[in-house]
Amino acid sequence: MAATIIDGKAVSKKIRQQLTEDVARFISETRITPGLAVVLVGDDPASHTYVRSKEKSTVKAGMYSEVYRLAATTSEAELLNLVDKLNKDNKIHGILVQLPLPGHIDELKVLNAIDPRKDVDGFHPMNAGNLFIGQESFIPCTPHGIMELLADAGVSLQGKHAVVVGRSNIVGKPVAMLLLQQHATVTICHSRTADLGAITRQADVLVVAVGRPNFITGEMIKPGAVVIDVGINRVDGKLVGDVDFESAQAVAGHLTPVPGGVGPMTITMLLKNTLVAAQRCR
Ligand code: GUN
Repeated sequence: MAATIIDGKAVSKKIRQQLTEDVARFISETRITPGLAVVLVGDDPASHTYVRSKEKSTVKAGMYSEVYRLAATTSEAELLNLVDKLNKDNKIHGILVQLPLPGHIDELKVLNAIDPRKDVDGFHPMNAGNLFIGQESFIPCTPHGIMELLADAGVSLQGKHAVVVGRSNIVGKPVAMLLLQQHATVTICHSRTADLGAITRQADVLVVAVGRPNFITGEMIKPGAVVIDVGINRVDGKLVGDVDFESAQAVAGHLTPVPGGVGPMTITMLLKNTLVAAQRCR
């Protein structure tokens, strides 16, 4: 039987409707409009597309949006100055510096400079550390969105074997922590894992975030598994995931499509974190 498709667009729409109501209520109660500043350095076309989408979605949810589009030649000191200014700006409750940054800028230095209370990406070491020890923190948006999709699909994680393919700070490591919090048994695999298929075939829940088109195929999936594809790769002008959709669909129990799976959830969680940041700063 073909896999049930997890519709990230529909789940995202539902959450954003609720969020828009929550934002309106917050504004009428406090006279404070939650504000998000997005900083983009350079000319990467995909990053420009994501940032445009973040800007539009912020305004649509009734929040205040500022976007800084800086030249690729911007120095690290100039970027740190802007972050410092945004840290002190009362209109701004959330700050997001779009990654990747140009090679001459130390990414960690910039992320460390963001006030952890405004770090709606959840990338600051304080938020990453709090997630690690199970304390309240801003949860990175894509992992947060994945957990919402699993919850919406009614996937129970307790005692299940969750396999995460990819060990990035943005997705792989934080999603592994969140799955662990939900009592899954978690294995993290990566590009140097030996006999990857032997491990992915044991997964009740398989999360793939490696950035390689069609990397996981149907024969690497356990029949009936829940498969979450985080990849967004452009191949011959078409967007494809890290999972080969056709062969996976025939084996998996649930599967997220690309586009329309995890992608729409990332911005939704960013908006949610921005409202939380505004609520916390009252
Ligand atoms: N680049 C790709 N994904 C992300 C994300 O979630 N946040 C930021 N800041 N940059 C990204």
